[in-house]
Order: sequence, then C-alpha cells, then structure tokens
Amino acid sequence: MKNILITGGAGFIGSAIAERLISLEYNITILDNLSSKIHNNRNIYDKLKKKTNFFIGDINVRKDWENAILDQDAIIHLAAETGTGESMYDIYNYTNTNVSATALMLDVLTNSQHKVKKILLGSSRAVYGEGMYKCKEQGVVFPSCRKNKDLKVGVYDFMSQSSSSKLIPIPTNEESHILPTSVYAINKLNQEQLILLVAKNLNINTTVLRFQNVFGPGQSLSNPYTGILSIFSTIILNNNNIDVYEDGLQSRDFIYIDDVVEASYLALTDNDSGEVFNVGTGIASKCFRCC
Ligand SMILES: NC(=O)c1ccc[n+]([C@@H]2O[C@H](COP(=O)([O-])OP(=O)(O)OC[C@H]3O[C@@H](n4cnc5c(N)ncnc54)[C@H](O)[C@@H]3O)[C@@H](O)[C@H]2O)c1
Repeated sequence: MKNILITGGAGFIGSAIAERLISLEYNITILDNLSSKIHNNRNIYDKLKKKTNFFIGDINVRKDWENAILDQDAIIHLAAETGTGESMYDIYNYTNTNVSATALMLDVLTNSQHKVKKILLGSSRAVYGEGMYKCKEQGVVFPSCRKNKDLKVGVYDFMSQSSSSKLIPIPTNEESHILPTSVYAINKLNQEQLILLVAKNLNINTTVLRFQNVFGPGQSLSNPYTGILSIFSTIILNNNNIDVYEDGLQSRDFIYIDDVVEASYLALTDNDSGEVFNVGTGIASKCFRCC
C-alpha cells in the first residue's frame, strides 16, 4: 500500500500525516480546497506541492474525487468543516461538506473503477456529547443538553432529573453513550456510519479514529473555530484578556499532533476493519483553575 490520498491534506492534521508518510516514502496525493477560513497564506501549498500530487479541489465535486482516487491504495478522509459553534448556524454547508461529500466519496468508490483497499476517517470525541456523569440516585447517567433557562442565570451544572442534586462529572470512558449535541457532532457520527456500512459492502477495510482535542505546530491560528488552544494563544499574543465562559471548570483531553500522526499511521497499516478507536491521552486538563 504505497499510494495514499489525504483529503484535507493541507490542514493541521492532514499536513502532519502527509509529512510523516512522505518521510516513509509513500506517494501522497492531497485533495484540499485551501479553504480561506483556514489558509490565510499559501505557504502550506507551496511547501506540499513540491512533494505531493496536490489537487486544489473540493470534496463536494464528483470530478475532483474521480481524479483524486485514480491509482490510490488508501484514503485518509480529513477534509471537513470543523467548528462546533459555527455548525449551529451554518447547518446546510456543514452537512454538505461533512456528510454529503462523504456520501459522494462512497458513491464514486461504488460506481467507478479503483484500487482503494483502506479508508481511514478522522472523526471526533464530539460524538459522545456531554459524556458521563454520576447521579446520587441513579448512578451513571448521560445528560444531553443543559437548559437555556439555567444557563441564562449562570447555572452550568446538570441537575438530577429525580431530585435537585447536581450531577457530578466523571471520566467519560468508551462505554459512554453516543449523544451528539451539535450539528458538527451529528455530521461526524453520520460520516462514521456511512463509511462503516458502505465500505464493508465494497470490501474496503475501514478504521475510524475519534480524535480528542489535538494541539501542536501547524494549527491554524486564523480559524476561530479550531480549538481552544489556538483561540487562547491568539488572544494572548494580541495582549487581550481571555473571556472565561461558564465556571472555567470544563475539562478536555489534549493530544499532541505527533501522537495523532502515530495513531493514524498504525491505523493505516493495520489490516483489521470496522474498528473505532479513541485517540487521546486519557488525561483531563481543566481550562483555568487546576493546571
Ligand atoms: N483538530 C482537532 O482537534 C480535531 C479533533 C477531532 C476531530 N478532528 C477532525 O480531524 C479532521 C482534520 O482536522 P484539522 O484540525 O486538521 O482541520 P483543518 O481545518 O486544519 O483542516 C481541514 C482541511 O480541509 C480542507 N477543506 C475544508 N473543506 C473542504 C472541501 N469542501 N474540500 C476540500 N478540502 C476542504 C481545508 O482547506 C483544510 O485544509 C477533521 O475531519 C476534523 O473534524 C480534528
């Protein structure tokens, strides 16, 4: 397996995976529309076009897929609209790019000649929604959304449905319910479901990687929707104050880009199919008060 197509290969994660695979002498093709939201200069394109077969194209366009998949052994599908907040008001665009374009990839693989034997999908922790909580009366529970009326008066905790006690957040494990709470999260879950179902019918091996919050060099600082670290570092570099939402006690699992590249490489070269892995450190970082 030597010819690899990376959609979104000019992005933060895709470009890091591309560099690693190039160093291992894979032949890399990139399909990326160099979205102006992410790419405020063309440095990454100038750098990668020398070492890859770079299609500036759109995953929403059938012809672009047909051109890009020629002679590919595997597809690493990363191109996406990635802003959880933005997804709540740019619903049609998000669902087109994240879901319909994934369906288009599978349609092209179903209805044209190709050699693709493996698809790796970059999915997200977002599919778990709010994760796991403990309730005094009911044990482990999986709350969905907080109520607007509570948020308006500064009540950020989830409350038990059977009493007035607060739910206590506990580490979310892989037994957690899948409960997406944004359009982006629904999109990522739909991508997983489409790929796992259709690729099986096509005898194409699949691996889904649910990334936690990825950080490291190459992260776009110009995209306000790609992760808290780029938002905070941009604010700090501009000498502005950081707004703390809610109580500042929200926690996230942050994983360094090199570890995500390693996980992706292991998944790409693994022969099992239909597996879903969480890619994180298992360590909770709180935004402000304890780290
Ligand atoms: N970065 C994270 O913390 C994180 C966490 C969980 C999941 N993910 C997932 O990993 C994948 C990669 O994320 P990233 O952080 O590298 O994002 P990114 O925004 O840096 O890269 C996405 C790339 O996709 C390209 N793109 C966007 N729309 C396109 C279209 N219609 N056609 C072609 N190319 C298009 C953009 O130009 C960009 O280069 C995404 O699918 C994202 O949902 C990322």
